[in-house]
Amino acid sequence: MNSPRDFDPNAYFHLSHNQDKINFILQYGILAPSTHNTQPWLFDISDRYCEISLNQAKELSFADNKKRNMLISIGCCVENIILVSRYFNIFDSMEILKGPPIVVRIFFNFSNEKTNFNLKHFLNTIQTRQNIRGAFNCLPVSSDVIMQLEKVGLEYKDVGLRIITDQQQMQIVERLTIEGALIASSNPGFRQEMSHWIINNHSKRKEGMPGYSLNVPYPISLILPFLIRRLNLGRITSRLIRKNFSSAKIVVVVTTKGRSAEELIQVGRLSERLMLELQSQKIQTSIAVASVEVDDIRQRLKDKLLISEEPQFIFTAGFTDKIRKFTPRFSVDEKMQQHGL
Ligand SMILES: Cc1cc2nc3c(=O)[nH]c(=O)nc-3n(C[C@H](O)[C@H](O)[C@H](O)COP(=O)(O)O)c2cc1C
Repeated sequence: MNSPRDFDPNAYFHLSHNQDKINFILQYGILAPSTHNTQPWLFDISDRYCEISLNQAKELSFADNKKRNMLISIGCCVENIILVSRYFNIFDSMEILKGPPIVVRIFFNFSNEKTNFNLKHFLNTIQTRQNIRGAFNCLPVSSDVIMQLEKVGLEYKDVGLRIITDQQQMQIVERLTIEGALIASSNPGFRQEMSHWIINNHSKRKEGMPGYSLNVPYPISLILPFLIRRLNLGRITSRLIRKNFSSAKIVVVVTTKGRSAEELIQVGRLSERLMLELQSQKIQTSIAVASVEVDDIRQRLKDKLLISEEPQFIFTAGFTDKIRKFTPRFSVDEKMQQHGL
């Protein structure tokens, strides 16, 4: 069986129909990160545009009852599509149609096709990007990289960026992330829902989080859904969060003024872009949003870090030599509206 990651970017140049070209670019869209690897996108394409809509069937009613993470995931997928279509110089514009369901429409213009080689690194990085969990090694992230990220942040409207390098501030985010994770894992509904999205290391399922992506060996991955459902594993989770944050070299917080769908999609776009910028320089990233899920904890995060906007998405970054198998994906075809997977 072909993996959805095994394709050659140059195959694009052999395509003559616009719809085939759009289909080709969607292969990069589906490799985006998504909450619990739910891949909450559905596609529809025409000769000039593609539509990416929110698949309500993938809603996580305990982990994400306001669909915040779902919309951010859609934003990550949209960003991959826009970056790759800019590489082939066919991106025209994007519009957001307020649903329900919310739909993002990306328009293409095929009149001046050429290759923007300065964007080439994104294509390879999208194919190899992973969300890493666990400890980073001691190599530092340079101030040049941080400045580069800040510059990228200015390109995206409706979103703010705060990059934390100060140890004490990182510890504040760590403590509040642990607090949020403990609240979540003490909720039987959250655990029940989560257990549905954990799959064993040899599972053929094309969505959900395999045990190996959580650093769990095969035998434990077989019983992990059961363990999560039955036991409160909050203390183990806290230890993993501590390991990750205490070894992280930077913590990135993406913020917005309000909580509209447009803003959350922009959060996903900027966050994915920043993670790709880092991973293209071999700096790994690890998403941890538990501190922004509970209103009271998010407010304390704002107060303690003196952030005036709403923190929406957080990830840590640093170097690690760990490599693991990629997480599964449904193919572009399976994600077309008519199949609805
Ligand atoms: C909006 C959003 C929220 C996420 N929240 C977390 C999180 O709190 N903790 C975590 O370990 N991973 C989190 N993830 C990472 C996903 O679980 C991961 O992207 C997914 O399992 C697919 O794996 P991959 O990114 O390695 O392809 C989040 C991803 C997104 C897009």
